[in-house]
Amino acid sequence: MSTRTAGVDYNLEQMMGDIQQSVRMALKSWIHLTNEGEQKKHVVAGWTSAAAIQSADVKAIKSRGESMSLYRFAGRMPVVSAKSYVSEAAVVIGDVKIDNDCYIGHGAILRGDHGAIEVGSCTAIEEGVIIHAFSNSVCRIGKNVTIGHGAIVHAENIEDYAVIGMGAILSLHAKIGSWTIVAEGCVVKNHQIVPEGVVVAGNPAKIVRSVEARDREFWLWGKQLYVDLAQQYLRDGMEQVK
Ligand SMILES: CC(C)(COP(=O)(O)OP(=O)(O)OC[C@H]1O[C@@H](n2cnc3c(N)ncnc32)[C@H](O)[C@@H]1OP(=O)(O)O)[C@@H](O)C(=O)NCCC(=O)NCCS
Repeated sequence: MSTRTAGVDYNLEQMMGDIQQSVRMALKSWIHLTNEGEQKKHVVAGWTSAAAIQSADVKAIKSRGESMSLYRFAGRMPVVSAKSYVSEAAVVIGDVKIDNDCYIGHGAILRGDHGAIEVGSCTAIEEGVIIHAFSNSVCRIGKNVTIGHGAIVHAENIEDYAVIGMGAILSLHAKIGSWTIVAEGCVVKNHQIVPEGVVVAGNPAKIVRSVEARDREFWLWGKQLYVDLAQQYLRDGMEQVK
């Protein structure tokens, strides 16, 4: 089948073949980059919990590397546990460490180009979240943290079990205590420190109440949902429907 656009004849079958060939070549060079990067993983500085990511796990990344979007930048290479799910539609760049049982959703961007990002085990980073670390600093995200759809995280520290609501913004150097819930759309200011166990809402963030037993019960359930979801995606994969 041929078509004519702007005075040029295109054969659609030929075009599809060319596109497939380009994608195959891009994938090949990308897998090569991944393998090379893994050999260098031991020289990546700053990851103190390397024991949590067994070398066997890292090797396993190779076998499914073509479905993850990991990028080396300026010699900085992501290290991701094979027990974690990173959507192929997510983008993970540079010095980013992701521990076990995490869910990194579709469209999430984790950019560790000038700084580093550490993500603790059982943490969910949902769709469209943007995480960036300040230059020469580490953005530490603890264990069992939930970061809701579309949140922007430029913070220094998010402690274990915190919940960052959908569309919230955590500005530069902000710190969030453990089991604290940042409400949907909330803005945590530059350098703002939010203590543990509170709900904050609004712009700028203000404490509206304490986290209660009902919140913990709900969020333990919600967090487990994403640990299970990660395993399901790892096991079954996504199938593109043509
Ligand atoms: C924030 C959260 C704990 C609030 O709990 P809640 O029981 O629904 O709300 P509460 O009634 O306790 O709200 C307390 C106060 O905060 C206010 N508030 C709640 N959510 C707010 C928000 N997103 N923005 C501004 N104010 C908010 C309430 O209006 C209330 O104010 P008032 O005392 O003046 O009436 C809850 O909505 C939550 O967990 N949000 C996160 C959800 C999310 O994004 N998950 C990730 C994706 S799965």
